[in-house]
Amino acid sequence: MLQGNQSKQEAVTRMIKPLKLGNHTVPYPLIQGGMGVRISGGRLAGHVAKAGGIGLVAAAGIALNSDHYTGANYFQAEVQAFQTEIRKARAIAPDGVIGVNVMVALSDYEALVKAAIEAGAQVVVCGAGLPLSLPELAAHAPDVALVPIASSLRAAQLIARTWEKRYHRLPDAVVVEDPDTAGGHLGEKLEHIGTGEYDQYATVRAIKQFFLEEYHSDVPVIAAGGIWDRADLEHALAEGADGVQMASRFVCTEECDAAPEFKQAYLNCTKEDIGLLMSPAGLPGRAILTSTPKIRQYDLDHHTVCRMGCLKKCTYKESGERFCIVTALDRAQRGDVETGLVFCGTNAWKADRITTVQAIFDELFGAEQELQEAA
Ligand SMILES: Cc1cc2nc3c(=O)[nH]c(=O)nc-3n(C[C@H](O)[C@H](O)[C@H](O)COP(=O)(O)O)c2cc1C
Repeated sequence: MLQGNQSKQEAVTRMIKPLKLGNHTVPYPLIQGGMGVRISGGRLAGHVAKAGGIGLVAAAGIALNSDHYTGANYFQAEVQAFQTEIRKARAIAPDGVIGVNVMVALSDYEALVKAAIEAGAQVVVCGAGLPLSLPELAAHAPDVALVPIASSLRAAQLIARTWEKRYHRLPDAVVVEDPDTAGGHLGEKLEHIGTGEYDQYATVRAIKQFFLEEYHSDVPVIAAGGIWDRADLEHALAEGADGVQMASRFVCTEECDAAPEFKQAYLNCTKEDIGLLMSPAGLPGRAILTSTPKIRQYDLDHHTVCRMGCLKKCTYKESGERFCIVTALDRAQRGDVETGLVFCGTNAWKADRITTVQAIFDELFGAEQELQEAA
C-alpha cells in the first residue's frame, strides 16, 4: 500500500512541473486568477507570487476604494491605483512573478495594459473579449508574457492566427476558462451554460494540439474554473493541462484584498446560492445570488447614474437597463454584500475557513515539496 501511494506520489511529482510563460518561470504551475474591483489587488497577488505561483492584480475598477479616486477622475485613478497595486505586489515578492488581468471589455483597456507594463508587470492576461491587438500594446516590452483567455478552440485559433499574421508572435500561454464552473464574467451564451455540452479538457487538448500542429510550438495551456483542491489539480494535469488558474479558492485567505464580509459570504453560501445572472456588459456572470434582487433596487433608490463609463459596452450606461456593475462589485468588496455583487465560481461553497495563501500552496504542492527535498 505504501509502495502504491509512493508511486502515485511520484507520478504526480512528474506532472507538477515549473510553469514557464515566455521568459518567466515559477516553481508551481498555478496562476491566481484576476478578480476585479479589488478582490485581487497587490496584497493577494504579491503573496501568491511569494509562494511560488503567478499572482495577478486585476485592473477592472481598481480605482474604487483607493486613495487615488476623487469621485471625478476615474480613468486617471484607474491607471494610478493599478500601478500602486502592482508595485505593492512587487514589494511583497521581489523575486516572484507578478502579472495582471485586464479585461478587453474595459473602456480603458489599452491604457491599463500600457500602465501595467510600465509598472513592471511580467505577465498580461486578457479575457472578456478577444485581445487581438495585445502584442501591439506590448511591442516595446518583448519580455512581458502575453496570455489570452479563451473558452473555445475557435477563439484561441482566431487570436493565434491574428497575432502571427500581424505581429509574428504567438501567445506565451492560453488560459481555457470553463463557463460551467468559473466565477465572474463568462465567455459563453447563457443558454449554453450548464447543458453538459462543454468539455473543458477536450478544449484544453484541442488548443494544445492546434499549436503543436500549426506552429510546432509547445504553448502552455492552463485550465481555469472549478479547481479547488489537490485532486482537482492532479485531474487537470492528468487531463493534459500544463497548469491551473484558480481564483475563488484564494478569496478566503487573510491576504485577499476583499472586506471580511465578502469572505464571510463565501463561508456562508450553499451550493444552491451560486448561480448565473446577466451582467450589463452583455455577458453572463456567476455569483452568489442571494443579493441579486437588491442590486437593481439599490440603483433605483439611489438614482445611480453612470458616472464612470468603465465598460465599452454596458446596458446600464446606454439605457439604464439592469444595474451599475462596477459600483455593485465595489459595494461587495467593501463589505456590503446585502446590495453588492459577490462573484464566485461553482466551488465557492466549499470554503470552510479563512486560511493563508501559503497554507493553500502547502496543501496543493506539499507532498511534492517533501518528495523533491527527499530526492
Ligand atoms: C470575485 C471574482 C472576480 C473575477 N474577476 C475577473 C476579472 O476581473 N477578470 C477576469 O478575466 N476574470 C475574472 N474572474 C474569473 C477568474 O479570474 C477565474 O478565471 C475563474 O474564477 C476561475 O474559476 P474558479 O474561481 O472556480 O477558480 C473573477 C472571478 C471571481 C471569483
